[in-house]
Amino acid sequence: MVHHSTTQHALLLSAVLRLASAVAVPEPTVVPARVEVRAPMVTPAAIRFDGRHSYVQQRNVVDSIKSGVDGVAKSWGSVLGTDLPSFFTDGIPGWFEGLPTGTQVLQSLGIGDDLAAKPTEVLNLPPYGNWTDQGWNVRFHGNVYKFPDISQSKVDDLANVFLIDTSVAKLPPDQQAQARNLTRSIYIVQQGKQNVSMSLEPAPMQGGDGEPGGSNAIEAPGGVQNFTLPYETTDLGDFDVFVPIKSNGLLPGNSTDNVQRLNVYTNGTMSGNATAYLVPNEGITFISDIDDILRVTKIYNPKEGLLNSFARPFTQWMNMPDIYGNWSRSLPNNTHFHYLTTTPEQATRLYMDFIYKTYPGGSFDTRPLNFSDVSATLSIRMFLLTKIFETFPQRKFVLVADTSNSDVMKDYPQLAHDYPNQVQCIFLRNTSATDSEMWFPYNTEGFKGLNNRSYMFFREPNDLTGLDIVNGQCLNESIPQNVTFSRQAEILGIHGKSSGGRLQGGATISFVVAIVAAMFLLL
Ligand SMILES: *[C@@H]1O[C@H](CO)[C@@H](O)[C@H](O)[C@H]1NC(C)=O
Ligand SMILES: *[C@@H]1O[C@H](CO)[C@@H](O)[C@H](O)[C@H]1NC(C)=O
Ligand SMILES: *[C@@H]1O[C@H](CO)[C@@H](O)[C@H](O)[C@H]1NC(C)=O
Ligand SMILES: *[C@@H]1O[C@H](CO)[C@@H](O)[C@H](O)[C@H]1NC(C)=O
Ligand SMILES: *[C@@H]1O[C@H](CO)[C@@H](O)[C@H](O)[C@H]1NC(C)=O
Ligand SMILES: *[C@@H]1O[C@H](CO)[C@@H](O)[C@H](O)[C@H]1NC(C)=O
Ligand SMILES: *[C@@H]1O[C@H](CO)[C@@H](O)[C@H](O)[C@H]1NC(C)=O
Ligand SMILES: *[C@@H]1O[C@H](CO)[C@@H](O)[C@H](O)[C@H]1NC(C)=O
Ligand SMILES: *[C@@H]1O[C@H](CO)[C@@H](O)[C@H](O)[C@H]1NC(C)=O
Ligand SMILES: *[C@@H]1O[C@H](CO)[C@@H](O)[C@H](O)[C@H]1NC(C)=O
Ligand SMILES: *[C@@H]1O[C@H](CO)[C@@H](O)[C@H](O)[C@H]1NC(C)=O
Ligand SMILES: *[C@@H]1O[C@H](CO)[C@@H](O)[C@H](O)[C@H]1NC(C)=O
Repeated sequence: MVHHSTTQHALLLSAVLRLASAVAVPEPTVVPARVEVRAPMVTPAAIRFDGRHSYVQQRNVVDSIKSGVDGVAKSWGSVLGTDLPSFFTDGIPGWFEGLPTGTQVLQSLGIGDDLAAKPTEVLNLPPYGNWTDQGWNVRFHGNVYKFPDISQSKVDDLANVFLIDTSVAKLPPDQQAQARNLTRSIYIVQQGKQNVSMSLEPAPMQGGDGEPGGSNAIEAPGGVQNFTLPYETTDLGDFDVFVPIKSNGLLPGNSTDNVQRLNVYTNGTMSGNATAYLVPNEGITFISDIDDILRVTKIYNPKEGLLNSFARPFTQWMNMPDIYGNWSRSLPNNTHFHYLTTTPEQATRLYMDFIYKTYPGGSFDTRPLNFSDVSATLSIRMFLLTKIFETFPQRKFVLVADTSNSDVMKDYPQLAHDYPNQVQCIFLRNTSATDSEMWFPYNTEGFKGLNNRSYMFFREPNDLTGLDIVNGQCLNESIPQNVTFSRQAEILGIHGKSSGGRLQGGATISFVVAIVAAMFLLL
C-alpha cells in the first residue's frame, strides 16, 4: 500500500465531496476548504489516479462510451460539461499542480525559517535577447531559493506521495536518485526581496560543451560585464526582467546573421550558470514543447506519466534528436531554438539537463510560480508565447508539440490567426496515431481558416525529414491529414461533429460514482 498522509486523506475526501456535489447539485454546496499546508499531490483531476482502482474505472468509461449500454443515446458534447475532471475533457495532467511554496514547505516539515546559514541557490533559465535602439536587451528570468535540511527518510516519504503502486525503496538506484532529486527540488524555500547580480562573458562555440547540435551560435566577441537586476525577487523568489546590456563589442542584431552566445553567471552561487542567446532580428525560431514530443512522458496515462516524470530517467522520443540536430546543422545561421514547457519551475533542472544533452542549445521557458493556481495554468503558455512573439516581431516561428496538449491545440493556431506573418509552420505529433493509450479528445477547431499547407499532423519523427522549412514547406504530402476542425478522438470513434460521437446516457454519472467508490477504497 502506498503511503498516504493525513493531509492526503483530507484532500482525497474533499475531492470526493467536490465530485459528488458537482453531480448532485448544479451549485456545489460543499466548498472544499483551502488547505494551507499540503502535500504535493495530484490535485485538479479531482481524484488521485491509482492503478488498482480509479485508473481501472477510467478505462471502463471509454468502453461505455464506445459501446453504449442502456441505449439512452447522448451526444458527445453533453459529456463535455463541468462534471468531468479536466484530464478527460482537456487532457491536462494534474500531478504537478499545487506544489508547495516556501512557507508551506517550512510548515509542513515542521521546521523554522532559520535558513540564514544555508547557501543561496539560483535557477537561471537560459535567456534570449533582442536587438533594440538601445542595443541588446536580454530577458533574465528564474528563481532564488534555499534547500532546507530534510532527512533522507523524510525525502523518501515525500517522494512516495508521487508514486503509484510502488515506492522509492522498491525502485532501482538510478530511479531512486531521480525521485529524490525531484523531491528535493520541490521542497525548497523561495527567497523574496533578493537582489540578483549577474556576470556575462563570451561563451565558446557549441560542440564539445555538453550542448550538441548547436543552432550555429557563435562566441560573442564582447568582454565581461557585471550588473544587478533592476528589481528584487518577488515574494516567491521569481525574477523576470529585460535588461539592456552594454554593447562591449557584441555584434549588432541588425548586421549579423549569427546567434551570439554569452555565459551568464550569478553572483554568489555556482547553481545559477546559464547560456544567453542574442538572437538576430530576422530568421527562424523553433519553439518546442518537451513532453511527448522531445521526450516520452505519456502524460495521458497518469501512472506512466508519473513514473516517467518522477523516477525514470528522461528518454528521447524515437529519433527526434536527429531531426532537431539536422535542422540545427543545415538551416541558416540565424536559426534559433527555444524550449517552452509549462512544467513548474521546481522541476525545470531535470528538463534542462535532458534537453541540453540531447537537443540543440537554446533559450528556455517554464511555468513561473505566480501561475501556479489552476485557472492561471491554462493561460501560461499563451503568456510566454506572446512574450517571445512580441520580442521578435520580424522573426518567423515554427511551433512544435503534440495533440495530447489542449493548451497547445488552442494557442498554436490562435497565434497563426493573430500573427499571420510570424508563424511559418505548426508541427503537431498526432499522438493517438502511434499510442492507443492516448484516447483523449483533441480539438482541431482552431485550425479552421488557416492555410492547410502551413501545418502538419505527423505520426513519427521521420515524417519531418526533407521539408524546405525556410521556404515555407510545412507539409509532407505522404502523411494523410484527417482534420475535422472540431473535437476528434478517433480511438473513441469520434471523428468530426456529425459522425459518431453518440454515447450511452448515464456514462458520466456511473463514471463519477465509480470513482467515488474507488476513492473510498483508498481511504
Ligand atoms: C542597426 O540598429 C541600430 C540601433 O537600432 C541603428 O542605429 C542602425 O542604424 C541600424 N543599422 C542598420 C544597418 O540598419
Ligand atoms: C537534480 O538533477 C539536476 C540535473 O542533473 C541537477 O542539476 C540538480 O542539481 C539536482 N538537484 C538536486 C537537488 O540534487
Ligand atoms: C537591493 O538593491 C537596492 C538598490 O541598490 C537597495 O535599495 C535594496 O536595499 C537592496 N535590497 C536588499 C534586500 O539588499
Ligand atoms: C565581475 O564579477 C566577477 C564575479 O563576481 C568578478 O570576478 C569580476 O572581477 C567582475 N568584473 C568586473 C569587470 O567588474
Ligand atoms: C557578490 O556576492 C558577494 C558575496 O557572495 C558580495 O559580497 C558582493 O557584494 C556581491 N556583488 C554584487 C555586485 O552583488
Ligand atoms: C558554473 O560556472 C563556474 C565557473 O565556470 C564553475 O566553476 C561551476 O562549476 C559552474 N557550476 C555548475 C553547476 O556547473
Ligand atoms: C555561418 O556562420 C559560420 C560561423 O561564423 C560562418 O563560417 C559561415 O560562413 C556562416 N554561413 C553563412 C551562410 O553565412
Ligand atoms: C506573473 O508575473 C508576470 C511578470 O511579473 C506578470 O506579467 C503576469 O501578469 C503575472 N501573472 C499572473 C497570473 O499573476
Ligand atoms: C524587444 O523586446 C521587447 C520586450 O519584449 C519589446 O518590447 C521590444 O519591442 C522589442 N524590440 C524590438 C526592436 O523588436
Ligand atoms: C535536414 O534539414 C534540411 C533543412 O531543413 C532539409 O533540407 C534536409 O532534407 C534535412 N535532412 C533530413 C535527412 O531530414
Ligand atoms: C491521428 O491519427 C489517428 C489514428 O491514426 C487518425 O484516425 C486521425 O485521423 C489522425 N488525426 C489527424 C488530425 O490527422
Ligand atoms: C480518417 O479518419 C477516419 C475516421 O477515424 C478513419 O476512418 C480514416 O481511416 C482516417 N484516414 C486516415 C487517412 O487516417
